[in-house]
Amino acid sequence: MELTYSAYLKLDQLLNSQQPLSPDEHDEMLFIVIHQSYELWFKQLLHEKELLNQSLTGGCEFQAMATLRRMLSILKTVVNQVDILETMTPLSFAAFRSRLSTASGFQSWQFRLLEFYLGFRDASRLRSYPESSEEFRSLHKALHEPSLFENFLFFVSEHYNSDIPEDILNRDRTQPYQGDIRVVPLLLNLYKEHPTFRMLCEMLTDFDEGFQEWRYRHVKMVERTIGYKNGTGGSEGVSYLRKSIFLQAFPDLWNIRSDF
Ligand code: HEM
Repeated sequence: MELTYSAYLKLDQLLNSQQPLSPDEHDEMLFIVIHQSYELWFKQLLHEKELLNQSLTGGCEFQAMATLRRMLSILKTVVNQVDILETMTPLSFAAFRSRLSTASGFQSWQFRLLEFYLGFRDASRLRSYPESSEEFRSLHKALHEPSLFENFLFFVSEHYNSDIPEDILNRDRTQPYQGDIRVVPLLLNLYKEHPTFRMLCEMLTDFDEGFQEWRYRHVKMVERTIGYKNGTGGSEGVSYLRKSIFLQAFPDLWNIRSDF
């Protein structure tokens, strides 16, 4: 038999994967579909990151920018999906929330992989997963791999012959990178001199800003939907989420802006 649309896309599996726990609550379907589509886009972002890494390692600046542009479009799309979920009222959500028990987006390991890739390293995130699980293994691996910014710095040192200090290139990757004042003037010079490099820096900054935008839209969605209740994942909810709103993935790229 010839391959069909449904068979190729495994629609049987895909469309049978929405199983509301409260079938009488109309909005639970939306809640599930939105979360599942987020996870699919997270999967795509993680897939794109492989190409981005390869491009930076291989010195293909244009390919890196093309991939970043796609990743940015995906990020904008997921941020916009908040609008759809915000059509669910606190009343509708309250009607099925207790069925979620302790399940929470807090446990999204693909989101944690993205955070690790962006340099938000925090080994304690691994505690959410059993040591024998695939989630634990992939996060543990990601914790020791170079972040996007580290790959960018390798690229800068290789292809622009910039003297990025060795201790930065070989830093302990399990710790978050807080920025380094020695990097700022090096990036600033390249930024002024090379238009393509400038575009790359701006795209990275777009991505950083887009990620902060996601955190902001998410916390406002949470605030309007559950107010100041604790999260199902066990955190204090809004006050926990507010702490990360302005975290920067690429502090040096923000810092160069004070020196123009
Ligand atoms: C009505 C909608 C939503 C509510 C009320 C909500 C609520 C929360 C709360 C309270 C937390 C804090 C952790 C906890 O104690 O549970 C959290 C974390 C999180 N949620 Fe949501 N959420 C919603 C929608 C979403 C959507 C659509 C996604 C998309 C995947 C998502 C992804 C996440 C992630 C990744 C975290 C971890 C954030 C971090 O640790 O910084 N949430 N959510």
